Amino acid sequence: MSAFVVLGSQWGDEGKGKMTDYLAEGADVVVRYQGGNNAGHTVEVGDKKYKLHLIPSGILYKDKLNVIGNGVVLDPESIFGEIDYLIGEGVEVTPENLVISDRAHVIMPYHKILDGASEKFRGDNKIGTTKKGIGPCYTDKAERCGIRVCDLIDNEVFAEKLKYNVEIKNAILTKVYGLDPVNYDEILEKYTALADRIRPFVKDTSVIVYNEMKNKKVLFEGAQGNLLDIDYGTYPYVTSSNTTAGGVSAGIGIGPTFIDGAVGIAKAYTTRVGEGPFPTELLDELGDAIREKGFEYGTTTGRPRRCGWLDAVILKQAVRVSGLTSFAVTKIDTLAGLEKLKICVGYKLDGKVIDYHPASLKDLAKCEPIYEEFDGWDESIADARSYEEIPETAKIYLKKIEEYTGARISIVSVGPKRDQTIKIGKL
Ligand code: GDP
Ligand code: IMO
Ligand code: MG
Repeated sequence: MSAFVVLGSQWGDEGKGKMTDYLAEGADVVVRYQGGNNAGHTVEVGDKKYKLHLIPSGILYKDKLNVIGNGVVLDPESIFGEIDYLIGEGVEVTPENLVISDRAHVIMPYHKILDGASEKFRGDNKIGTTKKGIGPCYTDKAERCGIRVCDLIDNEVFAEKLKYNVEIKNAILTKVYGLDPVNYDEILEKYTALADRIRPFVKDTSVIVYNEMKNKKVLFEGAQGNLLDIDYGTYPYVTSSNTTAGGVSAGIGIGPTFIDGAVGIAKAYTTRVGEGPFPTELLDELGDAIREKGFEYGTTTGRPRRCGWLDAVILKQAVRVSGLTSFAVTKIDTLAGLEKLKICVGYKLDGKVIDYHPASLKDLAKCEPIYEEFDGWDESIADARSYEEIPETAKIYLKKIEEYTGARISIVSVGPKRDQTIKIGKL
């Protein structure tokens, strides 16, 4: 048995989908434990490209159990859109290979409207959310008025909880934001029908995962990345869940002592979608060139991703906060052809050198990245299938990550496909 977390080390879109799919071949169970359909995980199998948002990336194998844990926020309309899309692609999705926690919170139509409304209200201070209703749904969870999956599938409880929520949300929508109210009867009818569809998938997933872990291999698939964590990210420019490895225990109901390790997925450079600080951002043609070469456009929203140099400070922080046992470095192939490369190995703040993100965004804005420069490489790495085939200069670049962060690199990914993966050591 073994249980490993696969999670993003930066601001998301590091290649978690690809790496989870790659590692899932040797696993039995794949579990999502936080976030919602704000995630966009791309998995390429043969000449097919799948875009997953809520369904774990183990779904593309016939024999894996996929679990959506209690820490996830679930949009019933969106998940059935995703299930129908997968079935249309010939992928089997049944209550035999997909189970959903009865404790997961449900994203309701008013959450999506409130997400858009609060973003508009913030004006220049907007977060740049995916507008999927993630923040407002987690708000209700913390406020203790949320509707859980177990409530949704109980017609009586749902009708009652919906009544209260519609009343209070309509007051906010009309009186605070000046918007139209939502209609209780319409939501009740639509979501009662969705509840009938969801009911067969609903289980106590903590019990299931705990029992499976006794003799099977489990992967916990993170969404977003360490710096989008509600506590340790660049708050308030974060998502509303704990994206760090600590989120696994609470998000599935499994104690931390049952988890063997955490592999941090790190893109060979840095990207970010949405607003917020980004010390190594490249606002010039080089940033544009990396975006085009790496096809850095959001999987969920299509927005162009901001691009910049690799920030090893962020990776060091991910080792500390998430207890990373190793890194899987992705998209190293994208950097081919650049004469010189830079890695940020510290920030200068008020005359001192620091190797972590300060809590205050005012201080973070003052941080000046300290760079080390590296020679690039011209040859394509996309066809490399062993570490020996990687150019020497790329090896030096990778070694710097290990040296600075103190964590090993266990995998190097040289392209989006399953076979474009070089395993170097244990996770
Ligand atoms: P995720 O959210 O972390 O799963 O990442 P996304 O799927 O949003 O974005 C990563 C993108 O990079 C996807 O289009 C992947 O197919 C692609 N990708 C993953 N690994 C590699 C790699 O090593 N090289 C290249 N060129 N593309 C990769
Ligand atoms: P994956 O799993 C990159 C960002 C949004 C925004 C902030 C808050 O594909 O890596 P939210 O809708 O969650 O309230 O938005 O978080 N964000 C992501 N950025 N990858 C993601 O997921 C993201 N999910 C949310 O752009 O800045
Ligand atoms: Mg993504």
